[in-house]
Amino acid sequence: MTREETLPCAGTDAAAALLASGASVRRFTADAVPDSVVEQAVALAQRAPSASGHQPYSVSYVTDPDLRAELESAMAVQAFVHDAPVFLLVYVDWSRQDVIADALVGPSSMNRTSRLMVGTIDASIFAHHLALALRAAGLGVCMVANPLLAMDEVARLLGLPARSCMPLHVLVAGHPAEVVPPRPRYPRDMVLHRDARPGPPDVDETLAYLRRGDAELQAVNYFEVTGDPVTSWPEHYAIKYGRRAAERTWEPLAGALPGFLDGQAT
Ligand SMILES: Cc1cc2nc3c(=O)[nH]c(=O)nc-3n(C[C@H](O)[C@H](O)[C@H](O)COP(=O)(O)O)c2cc1C
Repeated sequence: MTREETLPCAGTDAAAALLASGASVRRFTADAVPDSVVEQAVALAQRAPSASGHQPYSVSYVTDPDLRAELESAMAVQAFVHDAPVFLLVYVDWSRQDVIADALVGPSSMNRTSRLMVGTIDASIFAHHLALALRAAGLGVCMVANPLLAMDEVARLLGLPARSCMPLHVLVAGHPAEVVPPRPRYPRDMVLHRDARPGPPDVDETLAYLRRGDAELQAVNYFEVTGDPVTSWPEHYAIKYGRRAAERTWEPLAGALPGFLDGQAT
């Protein structure tokens, strides 16, 4: 199935074309990206909506090679992250809104759950606007989740106070050195439901999607590019949802969160 068949809007205007060609890029040329491109992309990303206009996010454009090496080591990044010319770290940041709260009413009444949820939502919308803006400038981009399991160390290296800040996303970018085909997605009718949910997902249809997607990814040697130690999509998810990930990822993540946005009521 071609992209045009799946996405009838593709190519009809620039925004639709940008969305239709969305795919994570993990191979970059060594060509430098001018600071002005990053600055312009951040300015565009700031057009993102945010709850109540809080804008509870900031982004570190990491250009100091020593700092970047320390961050990469703390986060144990994949090889392609290390090779990318641009390295941006988006974090939840309530510090500006705390200044406004202090000036108006005293310490903000938002509790930790609110700061975590609203901050994560708004910072993620911002991060993806930033990814789109970088792509609109002709760059390839991949978002990576590495900060989540090394929050304390990332925060320390960037001087982020736990009371108001939480590292969230790394975005790496550069001039693409690979042409990436659209990656598998669930059929639209499995995702878009008119009104009430029609019922649980059909097991056969869901597993057929997994097999189809695996064949698509195998055809482009996807798992060689990501550097993940797996050879198939079912194996990828078996690891993500199995006991090993619970011990290495999900349980440490649950333990990492309470350290952030410290000092707030839950
Ligand atoms: C929050 C987030 C975290 C991600 N983390 C990683 C990562 O750590 N490593 C990686 O190779 N890709 C990462 N990705 C990219 C996803 O693997 C990718 O978006 C997904 O497989 C769909 O492929 P596509 O973006 O090419 O369509 C991440 C994407 C998001 C949105």
